[in-house]
Amino acid sequence: MSYPNGRRVAIVAGCRTPFCKAGTALKDARAVDLARYAARELVERTNIDPKAVDEVVFGQVVPSALVPNIAREVSLLPQFPKEIPAFALNRACASGNQTVTAAHDQIVLGHANVVLAGGAESLSDIPILASRQLADILVTAGKARTLGARVAALARIRPSALVPVAPAIAEPSTGESMGQSAEKMAKENRITREAQDRWALRSHQLAAKGTADGRLTGEIAPWLPTRPGDAIVVQDNGIRTDTSLEQMAQLKPVFDRRYGSVTAANSSPLTDGASAVLVMSDAAAKTLGYEPLAYIRSYAVAAVDPGWQLLQAPVRAVPLALERARLQWKDLGLIEIHEAFASQVLSNLQGFAQKGWEINEEIINVMGGSIAIGHPFGATGGRLVTTLANEMKRRDVQFGLVSVCAQGGMASALVLERR
Ligand SMILES: CC(C)(COP(=O)(O)OP(=O)(O)OC[C@H]1O[C@@H](n2cnc3c(N)ncnc32)[C@H](O)[C@@H]1OP(=O)(O)O)[C@@H](O)C(=O)NCCC(=O)NCCS
Repeated sequence: MSYPNGRRVAIVAGCRTPFCKAGTALKDARAVDLARYAARELVERTNIDPKAVDEVVFGQVVPSALVPNIAREVSLLPQFPKEIPAFALNRACASGNQTVTAAHDQIVLGHANVVLAGGAESLSDIPILASRQLADILVTAGKARTLGARVAALARIRPSALVPVAPAIAEPSTGESMGQSAEKMAKENRITREAQDRWALRSHQLAAKGTADGRLTGEIAPWLPTRPGDAIVVQDNGIRTDTSLEQMAQLKPVFDRRYGSVTAANSSPLTDGASAVLVMSDAAAKTLGYEPLAYIRSYAVAAVDPGWQLLQAPVRAVPLALERARLQWKDLGLIEIHEAFASQVLSNLQGFAQKGWEINEEIINVMGGSIAIGHPFGATGGRLVTTLANEMKRRDVQFGLVSVCAQGGMASALVLERR
């Protein structure tokens, strides 16, 4: 395999905060705090010379208007020189993947040798906006030249203008929420409630195993509480060791109460967290003395009509990434599929099976997935890349895949290789 520009790109290491359900252990932290926490920990764990970092790229899906470029705030950590440029990006739930591939591209172009990639999200701290009506009045009042004009402008405020506007997890183009899309996919692809609950149970059981044996916790920077009396958080807090199919069967569907099958148990929860990944040219890794976990062999993004099956674009992105890698599905030894909803995972797998690909669940999400671990939108890609690369090393797997569906009918697929 020849690499673009003769430059091969390595995943050297990754780590993350614990992923915690929104409103729980990380609720007082802003996304930028989480991002900086994960980045600082990665610098310490890898002992990377901060001066060697050429660029910082972080993803965030619901950014704060007060910190629009979260990546720059990471690169301004006291550990780093102030001259490291940084940009934030948004490819919805595939943002974490996109930061890794953006790092790849900068390295391949020869613009960078070492890039700190990552992502963060705080769904405990979503930006609550003023209504357009209120915003217009406040702008007018702010520009008023006299007190009378200001009072007159403010007097136009009606109670309806004071209703805050919160971002919805819905498609701007169709108005359909992610959950409704998951329902639609369950129905159109005939994914039963039982099959969804089974996948969710599997996610919890495997994540519990990965937590108990330290594979997942090894990737987590323990979160030190900011308030006296709070406990240190060393693991993801959404993983249920005690759940069962019977308990899950009791839950009412959330997005289609009468005929639906998507429930709180077979959906990924709203989550807070951040991840960071150290990406380098192979040459830089050698010079700096790192043994890469894996290399980026190829990647692809793709999209489908959001009005069709919103979360089914992996069936386009994965074949493209495999074609670019000059590999076949059967060459893959480990696969990480983002679990927005069990109905989406099972729909994606059904789409792959329709291509004649054999689905071997033994190599898919071997430490569970986003349903159990959680899904802080911008951080998930970094988690998946880190978990995949670490497990590829442990099992000495040659080729691995990360597949992530995303808002807008998009998907990102990334092929890693070991040797
Ligand atoms: C589905 C969703 C609405 C559920 O939110 P929620 O109601 O706050 O979820 P909770 O965690 O409180 O769970 C609801 C109930 O189900 C129970 N439950 C959830 N998972 C369970 C499980 N695995 N086993 C047993 N019970 C479970 C909870 O204990 C809770 O019970 P309670 O009401 O008695 O306390 C929310 O998680 C969501 O919107 N997820 C989708 C996010 C999304 O769209 N992401 C984008 C993907 S790309």
